[in-house]
Amino acid sequence: MSLTMNSTITLNNGVKMPQLGMGVWQINNAGAAQSVQWAIKHGYRAIDTAKQYGNEAGVGEGLAKALADNNLRRKDVFLTTKIFNGDQGYQSTLDNFEGQLNRLQTDYVDLLLIHWPVDGKYMDTWRALETIYREGKARAIGVSNFNISRLKDILKMASIKPAVNQMEFNPVCQEGDIKQFCDRHNIHLEAWSPLGGGRVLQNKVLESIADKYDKSVAQIILRWDLQRGVITIPKSVHEDRIVQNSDIYDFELSEDDVKLINGLDNDDRSLWYGGFKWSGNPEGYTDSVASWDDDKEFIH
Ligand SMILES: NC(=O)c1ccc[n+]([C@@H]2O[C@H](COP(=O)([O-])OP(=O)(O)OC[C@H]3O[C@@H](n4cnc5c(N)ncnc54)[C@H](OP(=O)(O)O)[C@@H]3O)[C@@H](O)[C@H]2O)c1
Repeated sequence: MSLTMNSTITLNNGVKMPQLGMGVWQINNAGAAQSVQWAIKHGYRAIDTAKQYGNEAGVGEGLAKALADNNLRRKDVFLTTKIFNGDQGYQSTLDNFEGQLNRLQTDYVDLLLIHWPVDGKYMDTWRALETIYREGKARAIGVSNFNISRLKDILKMASIKPAVNQMEFNPVCQEGDIKQFCDRHNIHLEAWSPLGGGRVLQNKVLESIADKYDKSVAQIILRWDLQRGVITIPKSVHEDRIVQNSDIYDFELSEDDVKLINGLDNDDRSLWYGGFKWSGNPEGYTDSVASWDDDKEFIH
């Protein structure tokens, strides 16, 4: 399998998305600006953020600097952001998306996702994404954290099919049924928390595979993502780890080792979104757009 750092996945509307990118959840604005610059300097061409992370401004700043420093153009970097739960609904999604573009210092994003399926609202939010797509302000649109029944809801009413479902996916959380459904409907799976937020890195089976290939556990997992055809977006605030996470193109996992990792699945999710319902103020975030504070360090 000849994969390179430039390998892309062709989404269902023909847009090409880098298979490896970097995520910036739980990084403040200054840190996000720095991590984005390191990532682009070291060859990453995709960045994943969200309004909910409170760091779109930092990503915008880091991206602008990185493009200038590396003699790149906006079109050379694939930028993803997501619709904040509190903004969901048709008109409020359209209105608030303009602020996201401003913070990101761009007039379009490459991929725009519904961050979470806010019950009672996600269908209207999807219609807003279709409008944004038709206006050319998003090159592709998709969803995140959608289970099969919610994906079916969207597919029933959509004029434009979601290109991507971004969901928790790593060796201990593989969501086989959702992946199979997405494969069948040509919705590409993108892995959030590919390293399990760090918690999968001490797994003994993965450690033994890592020893065998003389690679780190993180590299083994990310290579497994690539060989599974999944889009992956590991996060780090350390330059050496950002480099390490992209140094995954000089080896190939054997079929047996891919199967061994496939076998580690035990439904060990950090969050379960089957019963997700947006209500009030769980875990300190707010659904009141008026009270959104762009300077907040981060919000899950
Ligand atoms: N759609 C959603 O609802 C959703 C939810 C969660 C995440 N996401 C997206 O997915 C991205 C990735 O997920 P994540 O941030 O939850 O977790 P992750 O990428 O699975 O893991 C990140 C953690 O692993 C550490 N790490 C990274 N590379 C490492 C390496 N080579 N060796 C050892 N430790 C390493 C990081 O620490 P340091 O930073 O200290 O290096 C951090 O603690 C997010 O940043 C976000 O963009 C989306």
